[in-house]
Amino acid sequence: MHVTVVETRHATHTAVDGVAVSGVVKRFADVEALAGVTLSVAPGEVVAVVGPSGCGKSTLLELVCGLLAPDAGTVKAPAAALMPQRDALLPWLSAEDNAGLALRVNGASKAQARAAARPYFAAFGLEDFEQARPAELSGGMRQRVAFLRTLLAGTPVLCLDEPFGALDALTRVQMQEWLAGALAREPRTTLLVTHDVDEAVVLADRVVLLSARPGRVVETLDVALPRPRRRTDPAVQALAGRALRTLGVQA
Ligand SMILES: Nc1ncnc2c1ncn2[C@@H]1O[C@H](COP(=O)(O)OP(=O)(O)O)[C@@H](O)[C@H]1O
Ligand SMILES: [Mg+2]
Repeated sequence: MHVTVVETRHATHTAVDGVAVSGVVKRFADVEALAGVTLSVAPGEVVAVVGPSGCGKSTLLELVCGLLAPDAGTVKAPAAALMPQRDALLPWLSAEDNAGLALRVNGASKAQARAAARPYFAAFGLEDFEQARPAELSGGMRQRVAFLRTLLAGTPVLCLDEPFGALDALTRVQMQEWLAGALAREPRTTLLVTHDVDEAVVLADRVVLLSARPGRVVETLDVALPRPRRRTDPAVQALAGRALRTLGVQA
């Protein structure tokens, strides 16, 4: 059970721009989660990681964010903020105070944190919900607040762990379009974990496919398609189908 709200600790962090994961092995007692994973994320690049449940995707993000250390191999990354698999908003805080939480953790005053968060509310479709508590927000709105909190951490790298996994199918598609727009306006080096191959192809520059546990990279797909992309585009569907076949799912 992870209680991480938002983390900005450094991994093996030197002054590198992108993320470089090399030969990483991670075990939990006698469970081998990752068995020699190598991948990179160039500055400004969006890399999606797709793989079956339990193959070590969340573990990989925690390694990149410096919350875990590898048993073998190396992780090089600048400071990275994690948007955990559950939105992890604090129920007693308003949307704007949740959004500014990373700034508060880093020493900003409440007023400073609110001043930094507020200008984003309109662009995030959250206008007039600054004072709302998480329980008063829709699932999609909560995810946007959680994403804004991750963004406001101000780190060069974003690690997003199945950000839309808990949303209904329609909201998920809307949120994917929204995230594509947000990253186009404000590009960030992003590692996006998802179990949705369409989402991976719509959003990412490259898609890394992991095997079942212990996770290893089985294939990396380059998504050289113009943006904005629609999941119904034949070229998107062709790549998504290939990803599913590689993962052993009949498409
Ligand atoms: N803190 C932990 N302690 C023990 N086992 C863990 C821990 N975190 C993950 N695992 C195990 O490692 C494997 C990979 O987990 P995880 O990275 O959460 O997979 P995914 O996100 O791909 O579903 C699973 O078998 C999980 O039970
Ligand atoms: Mg996970």
